[in-house]
Amino acid sequence: MNGFDKYIPFVPQPIQNRTWPDNTIKEAPIWCSVDLRDGNQALIDPMNVEEKLLLFHTLVDIGIKEIEVGFPSASETEFHFLRTLIEDNHIPDDVTIQVLVQARPHLIRRTFEAIEGCKHVIFHFYNSTSTLQRKVVFHTDVAGVQKIATDAAKMIYEMSQPMIQAGADIRYEYSPESFMGTEMDAADKICDAVMTALHADADHRVILNLPTTVENCMPNQFADELEYFIRNLPGRDRAIISLHPHNDRGTGVATTELGLLAGADRVEATLFGNGERTGNVDMVTVAMNMFTQGIDPELDFSKINKIRDVYERVTKMHIGERQPYVGELVFTAFSGSHQDAINKGVQYMKESETGKWEVPYLPIDPADVGRDYEPIIRINSQSGKGGTAFIMAQNFGFELPKAMHPEFGTIVQEESERIGHELQPAHILDLFKREYLQIHGPYRLTKRNFQEQHQDEDSQVTFSGTLECNGTTFTVSGEGNGPIDAFFNAIHGQEMDRYTFVDYKEHAINTGSDSQAVAYIHLRTPDNTDVFGVGMDHNISMASIKGVLSAINRAKLLEQRQ
Ligand code: KIV
Ligand code: ZN
Repeated sequence: MNGFDKYIPFVPQPIQNRTWPDNTIKEAPIWCSVDLRDGNQALIDPMNVEEKLLLFHTLVDIGIKEIEVGFPSASETEFHFLRTLIEDNHIPDDVTIQVLVQARPHLIRRTFEAIEGCKHVIFHFYNSTSTLQRKVVFHTDVAGVQKIATDAAKMIYEMSQPMIQAGADIRYEYSPESFMGTEMDAADKICDAVMTALHADADHRVILNLPTTVENCMPNQFADELEYFIRNLPGRDRAIISLHPHNDRGTGVATTELGLLAGADRVEATLFGNGERTGNVDMVTVAMNMFTQGIDPELDFSKINKIRDVYERVTKMHIGERQPYVGELVFTAFSGSHQDAINKGVQYMKESETGKWEVPYLPIDPADVGRDYEPIIRINSQSGKGGTAFIMAQNFGFELPKAMHPEFGTIVQEESERIGHELQPAHILDLFKREYLQIHGPYRLTKRNFQEQHQDEDSQVTFSGTLECNGTTFTVSGEGNGPIDAFFNAIHGQEMDRYTFVDYKEHAINTGSDSQAVAYIHLRTPDNTDVFGVGMDHNISMASIKGVLSAINRAKLLEQRQ
């Protein structure tokens, strides 16, 4: 492939004795949603006011306390939306809204008009500081971009004082846009000057938001930059360090996580990673990754499908099937060995009652994001015996004996290959009925009679009946210590007496309003092939007899086919 040699590789920040690799994430960061600004800015059809309101309330319900609601100086719709939020009392008292503005005087003035009457505001201003932007866009040096930033900072500080004195809670946020492409010593110098212009101290901390405006390096290289930046920032305690990762290399989540290890306090993100180009970092993934490590993310994604519906409706974007935690297929296993292991994990959890999630191949309990059990296991031609047995148990209450799993698994797999696509659970149930329960020949029981006698622990069963096979009728009778024993003794000497009884299992099953017994019978043919039969009846003895007949008939049919 040609063309790669025109790219300039990222120059890593040298750093001695980095500490971030030894850190772990222990608590949730301060979250800020930028869905209504960065997210909205990147839509083919930006949201209208009604859609923005719906999304705003969804973000509030998730528990996000800082929400960037737009760029009010950039358009009338953004201005009008902010006024609607304020004047129609949509903003809860514990939620701070954030407004974005470029470091330009007329836009700053207009932004102050937009926030009039708002109780809690983060006034977020930015200018680009990167080497590339200085060279190709602004034609200026570090001192030039620093002056743009500090002039804006002074103006914002001055203009906010009367509002603060009148009772408004106004905080400041500064973004050296394209931070990742800025020399770290220059970034420290600019941010220090901005904090000074804003009179920052430990009680009035300024949010320094450090964007990977375009993700251009590996997450570990970004973490090095960040650790270096924080170490060399004069008066670290005057700042809240905020991340604003984009996802151009597809590593926005990793950049965020390593950025937190390197000392960040706050994360700006969007739901499902909407945003410019490849998007902003996905808040859901970062938060739920914490959740799976036993850390409370302090956000509520327990009804993820509802959030997804709102998101798809207002953004007109589609969430991919493999999107972590929310995608259609992320709680589905097709591969047989995975299905088997999931099945065993679910069983283990039931039996061990540890209360801990220990299911292979499922990093999270789907119920924690409000997803149903439904599609954990789906069946196609790659699926195995365990998955099929799981569907039969979970969906229909048939607890197939383990020895029977391979036989029915093969039947299902062959059917899936035949039709060429996934089998729905109802189709699997039909197959089960057709294969085991609706086998009515060649042997048919036309009359039957049981008598049971119990004495102490012992029971004695007498069975007599009439069987029909290919037009020939014969009567049989026998005794045994249970119905299966009595039936086998009854058919002794008949042609159908060629199969050895191996095992059986029975349990009750609820079919709609009533309860029946289901019996699984395991026989072995003279050439050592295992064959199973299933019987269902309200009478438990009869369920066993039907199971034996089902197994004998299936064995007979298999022999005829060979
Ligand atoms: O990505 C970015 O750099 C931004 C800034 C305006 C914060 O969105
Ligand atoms: Zn951005």
